[in-house]
Amino acid sequence: MIIEPRMRGFICLTSHPEGCRKSVLNQIDYIQSKGPIDGPKNVLVIGASTGFGLASRITSAFGSNGATLGVFFEKPPQEGKPASPGWYNSAAFHDAARAAGLFAKSINGDAFSTEVKTKAIDIIKANMGKIDLVIYSLASPLRTHPVTGVVHRSVLKPISNAFTNKTVDFHTGAVSTITIEPCNEEDISNTVAVMGGEDWEMWMDALLAADVLAKNAKTVAYSYIGPALTEPVYRKGTIGAAKDHLEATAFHISDKLKGLHGKAFVSVNKALVTQASSAIPVIPLYISLLYKVMKEKGIHEGCIEQIQRLFKERLYSSGDIQTDEKGRIRVDDWEMREDVQKSVAELWEKSDSESLALIGDLPGYKSDFLNLFGFGFEGIDYSADANEMVLIEGV
Ligand code: NAI
Repeated sequence: MIIEPRMRGFICLTSHPEGCRKSVLNQIDYIQSKGPIDGPKNVLVIGASTGFGLASRITSAFGSNGATLGVFFEKPPQEGKPASPGWYNSAAFHDAARAAGLFAKSINGDAFSTEVKTKAIDIIKANMGKIDLVIYSLASPLRTHPVTGVVHRSVLKPISNAFTNKTVDFHTGAVSTITIEPCNEEDISNTVAVMGGEDWEMWMDALLAADVLAKNAKTVAYSYIGPALTEPVYRKGTIGAAKDHLEATAFHISDKLKGLHGKAFVSVNKALVTQASSAIPVIPLYISLLYKVMKEKGIHEGCIEQIQRLFKERLYSSGDIQTDEKGRIRVDDWEMREDVQKSVAELWEKSDSESLALIGDLPGYKSDFLNLFGFGFEGIDYSADANEMVLIEGV
């Protein structure tokens, strides 16, 4: 079928298998261009099909020759209906791993469920031996609790007070003012249930109980802080409460891993265009200004550059792993640099529908957004027939 982008708000309903393949191959090329990493050999990536999780899987496999088990929740294709992009990304990853002689297996299912955890442990026991790195990179709007059966839905709202600020419709470039009403108490606990640390800890408990973690095993979950500008809707909002919980959970998990001399980390990553971040009001405007400033300063990174730096210069560097006063690894260091934030804050003041084309990087935002779904890549003939019925080996 001929596959074109079909946008609905902040999502795209279609994705292109060849473009997704190109995106994965580009990321593999980047990792290989940066040389080997003395990193993990047996890796479980939870949330492995897009964004930071996919970048972590690619870095583990092609940077450090790691065997990988990926867990994700993606829609397979149907005749005449393309799969979700993470499906095609994973198919391309499997093909590349096989060609490189690297072990790769994937589970497409709900990572929050006990069933998927059990399945992962079975695969690890049968094929991988012990895991030395667990990456936790889920971004989900909801979670069915495996014990209570309750469906928790996360919300992206401020806590206590309504928040009014600018936002952009990144398709049109129209800047408008948005007011987001504050959440209620249930919204906070629901968002913490979905995006906090409980499920991460459940995974680690299950892996520990099954004795499938290696000595010195590490686990890393991803968090975000961001500037004062976005604080009410992000770090001090419902999602920030979940990130506080996730960060606190790292300490509990570290305690449990002591017997193995293992450790749990949270890495605070940079704001980037992913399916998860596009859904948060105000953030797309911030990202389009941030991209402009960071590109001008020559310090822009995407997911793959961030994770390559996380592995090479933090997790698997020769010295001690540097953390901030709260024990977090920081690869948002360049985003949070004083000069960068000062420039973004100045541009924020000036931004409106007319000025944004000049002062922001909306084309960069849009192109990254299209790329998430396999569109906008050079060398792909989008007018040609594409085979939507791509399979993932073993899934
Ligand atoms: P993403 O939307 O690109 O990836 C989410 C992944 O989770 C996908 O592999 C998806 O299949 C998987 N997933 C979702 N629900 C699932 C379920 N029930 N079972 C199994 N897999 C499921 O998200 P992104 O942006 O890479 O986010 C990953 C983490 O990084 C999140 O914790 C996010 O808060 C954090 N982060 C994101 C930043 C950003 O700007 N995008 C910045 C800093 C941290």
